Amino acid sequence: MFVGQDLYSGGSFVYDPWVLYKQGLITAPNVVLAGIVGSGKSSLAKSLYTRSIPFGRRVYVPGDPKGEHTAVAEMVGGKAIVLGHGLRNRLNPLDEGHRPSGLTDFEWTTQVASRRRNLIGALAATVLERSLSPLEHTAIDVALTAVVTSNDVPILPMVVDRILTPDPADDEDGRLAEDGRLVGHALRRLVAGDLQGLFDGPSTVTFDPSLPMISLDLSRVAENSTLVSVLMTCSSAWMESALMDPNGGQRWVIYDEAWRLMSHPALLKRMDAQWRMARHYGIANMLIFHKLTDLDNVGDSGSAMRALASSLLANAETRIIYRQESDQLGVTARTLGLTGTEQKLLPGLGTGQGLWRIKDRSFVIQHQLHPDELAAFDTTTRMTGGAK
Ligand SMILES: Nc1ncnc2c1ncn2[C@@H]1O[C@H](COP(=O)(O)OP(=O)(O)O)[C@@H](O)[C@H]1O
Ligand SMILES: [Mg+2]
Repeated sequence: MFVGQDLYSGGSFVYDPWVLYKQGLITAPNVVLAGIVGSGKSSLAKSLYTRSIPFGRRVYVPGDPKGEHTAVAEMVGGKAIVLGHGLRNRLNPLDEGHRPSGLTDFEWTTQVASRRRNLIGALAATVLERSLSPLEHTAIDVALTAVVTSNDVPILPMVVDRILTPDPADDEDGRLAEDGRLVGHALRRLVAGDLQGLFDGPSTVTFDPSLPMISLDLSRVAENSTLVSVLMTCSSAWMESALMDPNGGQRWVIYDEAWRLMSHPALLKRMDAQWRMARHYGIANMLIFHKLTDLDNVGDSGSAMRALASSLLANAETRIIYRQESDQLGVTARTLGLTGTEQKLLPGLGTGQGLWRIKDRSFVIQHQLHPDELAAFDTTTRMTGGAK
């Protein structure tokens, strides 16, 4: 894909993580992009992914806190799923999801059952902000089995009811209800409490992995961090089933404003798993944040969360550094092993200019936007009141 101009040579600069991977120049197609607000990060992401669509790649934005990828998704013939209180849209976490080709009925049923179990467990863990005990997993499992066998379209409220009031036949010593009480009430928040109205009915939106682009627009819920986390947990579970399809093709997975998403442990774990699997699934992850030290604010020092965040950076062989605040220069240079000259460049970078480190090679690139791209991607029109 054409990116722009190489500011040292004056030549054009092209980049394609899949091609570099195929040529053996990088061992994983993941990208980290850091720069201050307004430096042009989102615009670069939008150019990279839209320009790769004609090459057969697809795009997935699993959580867009500012809703700024929605218009682009619609423009390229994809879809943005907008969720929020007061909107009609519902997501049913018990949906079967996309069936990958080449699975037998038995394999598929097993896969659906295990995905539902994992997802409901992850949702409960997210709301409880801790991992579940074995007894709690059992409580979920028993309730799920009962609900799924007796309903064509199982929905979350049924599971909650079953966890809180188990079938006496399943609960001979009367302990199951007790074991499931906390998980039951945690999940109840999603169907009757403050998080109600999004997960409590059959889905009104479908996740169609054949579209060129899908974006989950979280701008209407961005202030509620539990809700963001829960929604992204659901969407990444569906995405995983689409990604596991051997005919799913190659796709970009874009985490814009990633520091907001990374504060959720369950999401960070999923992200980490997806980064490790990137090659296998043919996906290129792109993680966008302000500064490399955003990764140091994840979890407590020495915690598993912090280690995960650092491993994300370590697993990205393409690091693009846009303009940085001067107090960040030392850290950035040390983390990436920049030379003195490269470090001096960073504070003077203009909009759309960045230092690209691809494994051990460095380039300074001006990202060039076509006027139509500029109009389509612009994030300032709303603030300046300009016409589209
Ligand atoms: N390569 C570029 N050439 C010209 N203008 C750009 C370029 N990249 C970004 N811009 C403009 O800069 C502004 C901020 O860009 P944006 O991508 O939203 O920044 P960030 O995501 O880093 O906050 C937008 O109005 C955008 O149109
Ligand atoms: Mg941005």
